[in-house]
Amino acid sequence: MIDTSKVAELSKVAKQMVAPGKGILAADESMKTVGKRFASIELENTEDNRRAFREMLLTVPGESDYISGVILHDETIRQTTKSGKTFVEILQTAGILPGIKVDLGLIDAGSEKLTSGLEGLGARLQEYVEFGAKFCKWRSVITIGESMPSEENIRQNAKDLAAYAFVCQEHGLVPMVEPEILLDGTHTIEQAEAASTQILTALFEELRAAGVALEGMILKTSMVLPGKDFGVKASPEQVAETTLRVFKKCLPSELAGEAFLSGGQGDVEATQNLNAINQDKNLPWPLTFSYARALQDAATKTWKGMPENLQAAQKVFLHRAKMNSLASLGTYSSDMEQPVAYDQDVTVSQD
Ligand code: G3H
Repeated sequence: MIDTSKVAELSKVAKQMVAPGKGILAADESMKTVGKRFASIELENTEDNRRAFREMLLTVPGESDYISGVILHDETIRQTTKSGKTFVEILQTAGILPGIKVDLGLIDAGSEKLTSGLEGLGARLQEYVEFGAKFCKWRSVITIGESMPSEENIRQNAKDLAAYAFVCQEHGLVPMVEPEILLDGTHTIEQAEAASTQILTALFEELRAAGVALEGMILKTSMVLPGKDFGVKASPEQVAETTLRVFKKCLPSELAGEAFLSGGQGDVEATQNLNAINQDKNLPWPLTFSYARALQDAATKTWKGMPENLQAAQKVFLHRAKMNSLASLGTYSSDMEQPVAYDQDVTVSQD
């Protein structure tokens, strides 16, 4: 079990992460994923360009009005901005919590995936604590398809997420526990609902069995959606109804909160769905965003790696952050959108 005084501190940070009107920016893509995004804006994937990219996203004036925390990549937590300040210092000065992705990526498990990184995790976390990190992320990936997800894959991912979460809490770090249910596939929203229910039920069984303090962790899972290739999109009302039905069945009331990933939804779509979910005012947990693509894509397309586009890109970023902040309060409406002109598609999934 986690020490009570530690739980109180973890719970305080977790509450800050999902404070009203705030959400989390996921800026922790692997170098390979950043490379794919850069390819679409014809930018070379060098360390300096990745630094400039992260600087564009993390130095937006007014960002802390909408963003409570940023998930960093191992490379970024060690880097400094052009002015010589570490990214952690930049975030701390802005009143934004620095977080860190701590899993080491996906490994094959038959036709499914598991996540590596439990070995030596404690020592790595110790270093991140010294850097100033306050929370962590571990992503597992679950596919819906023929005979998938298997019971075995669901259980092993749940056990690994629980083991990670416990080690984080022992080190005084709030775990973001991420079972990502992939959008890829032709499945119906009913199939996604059944899979999500199974996955989240197993997850909370394992979290409890491992002694994880639920009030000191954040769930980061997918909205319940039909597969990308199903052919018809669900309406925001249907997404909200289905997602909340699953959550009411599976999420314990002590959970500090849920921060959705965007998972390949369009940026406005991810905002509309979050807003529809937050029309329900009688939920025991705050439901907010922890988006990468849905927060970054429009800004990236505006930036294109050019210093002269920095301000315009940051403005675009701030607009998206504000729209999602409003959606997390359920007060967004589509007529608040601004037309953004860009010509290239940078939407690529994570590794
Ligand atoms: O692990 C997934 C990311 O943190 C969220 O990325 O919003 O692009 O799905 P996404």
